[in-house]
Amino acid sequence: MLIIHGGTPLEGEVQVRGAKNLVSKAMVAALLGTSPSVLRSVPAIRDVEVVTGLLRVHGVDVDLDGDTLYMDPTSVESAGVEEINVHAGTSRIPILLCGPLLHRLGRAFIPDLGGCNIGGRPIDFHLDALRKFGAVVDKDADGTHLSAPNGLHGIRYELEYPSVGATEQVLLTAVMAKGTTELRNAAIEPEIVDLICILQKMGAIIKVHTNRVIEIVGVDELKGYEHRALPDRIEAASWASAALATQGSVFVRGAQQTDMMTFLNVFRSIGGAYEVNDHPVDGGIRFWHPGTALKPVALETDVHPGLMTDWQQPIVVALTQADGLSIMHETVYENRFGYTRELRGMGANIELYSDCLGGTPCRWGRRNFLHSAVIAGPTKLHAADLQIPDLRAGFSHLIAAMAAEGTSRVYGVDRYITRGYENFEAKLLGLGAKIERPSASSRV
Ligand code: EPZ
Repeated sequence: MLIIHGGTPLEGEVQVRGAKNLVSKAMVAALLGTSPSVLRSVPAIRDVEVVTGLLRVHGVDVDLDGDTLYMDPTSVESAGVEEINVHAGTSRIPILLCGPLLHRLGRAFIPDLGGCNIGGRPIDFHLDALRKFGAVVDKDADGTHLSAPNGLHGIRYELEYPSVGATEQVLLTAVMAKGTTELRNAAIEPEIVDLICILQKMGAIIKVHTNRVIEIVGVDELKGYEHRALPDRIEAASWASAALATQGSVFVRGAQQTDMMTFLNVFRSIGGAYEVNDHPVDGGIRFWHPGTALKPVALETDVHPGLMTDWQQPIVVALTQADGLSIMHETVYENRFGYTRELRGMGANIELYSDCLGGTPCRWGRRNFLHSAVIAGPTKLHAADLQIPDLRAGFSHLIAAMAAEGTSRVYGVDRYITRGYENFEAKLLGLGAKIERPSASSRV
């Protein structure tokens, strides 16, 4: 639990390191190499610890020195169900081990997945593609067992929806499958492009065509890589939104304009100000509240290059301070507005609808999910006791508590926030936030 005394503008500078949603996949890619890999700018977050554990049980030697990760997969070996199951329910990354383990060992065991509870999050695309590559998939009470008795062979495959994870699954499997794979309707998020760069460094042949088509020519062997992870654009946007909601000013060192163009357009439309410093070493983006009223906007989340679903929650908190009615139509996940209940408890005026408001009809409108939000502002937020429901919503709760008058208690920070935000308490303190952990006596 974190105690937050709100009402202080966040002022100062934070550093963002490599993107959680690339680093964890880059670690999986290291399994495919016949020699060691080196990954730089690795954040100290729990998802990295989870994947480290998974690699280690498979015989990969993993060492972290500062923010550089060394991974030696030369002695990859099968792991027992029990030791793998230690990691069940902790993350969604284990599903991406399928292709690399099948290539290296001929079989794989995947525990039950975890990750944030923001919708059904099925893995049907992953399993369907793996079966087409030639994998035999058996689910039992322990988890999922896979084998490839006849090897893995290139496929022509079209995704029903440009899923990030399923695109990564196909990439990590196709790079060493026999023959060529053509993936249509692929996701093209910057983290996927960075993963493609890593695989290319390892010796893969991957062509990214227009219109979401990726062609992969399978090769017999891949070597290790050296790579600096692209910066975390979700974390950067979280700090930007915190600056706006608390009427502060934050320089996010490491934030990169090219990966954040859509966010920057939205930030400016709301009335936020920013300045890009593109110095190769010390560059970043300064975000601030210009002191004038924030403007309402109608937005919808989408796959890249649209507005990221992970930017939605911090933006909604900032929109509670905009002057008028804003709309947020969530089209990626069916259940990503649960956190607004707590915001309403703090005084925010947010209503949820099952219609596709202000945008193109999406999959969730037809199925009656509450996936559009109307935010009426500006509303004064007041302190509350908040229970964090997931990673990104959790950070939004922190932002709301910092913007609110009074003292809030936020529960669940260690379970959720540390999964994806490195050193966030020190960063908050550095920005002048008035936060504290409860003393031992008040914890009982
Ligand atoms: C990744 O999740 C990220 N996680 C998520 O970030 C992010 O929100 C999401 O991509 C979208 O950008 C990681 O990279 C670890 P998807 P992923 O497959 O790959 C449906 C965070 O907080 N779908 O693109 O799991 C799915 O239900 C996290 O950092 C299927 O129907 O997301 C969803 O509606 C949260 N069947 C949509 O596709 C499948 O087999 C997009 O999911 C796979 C996905």
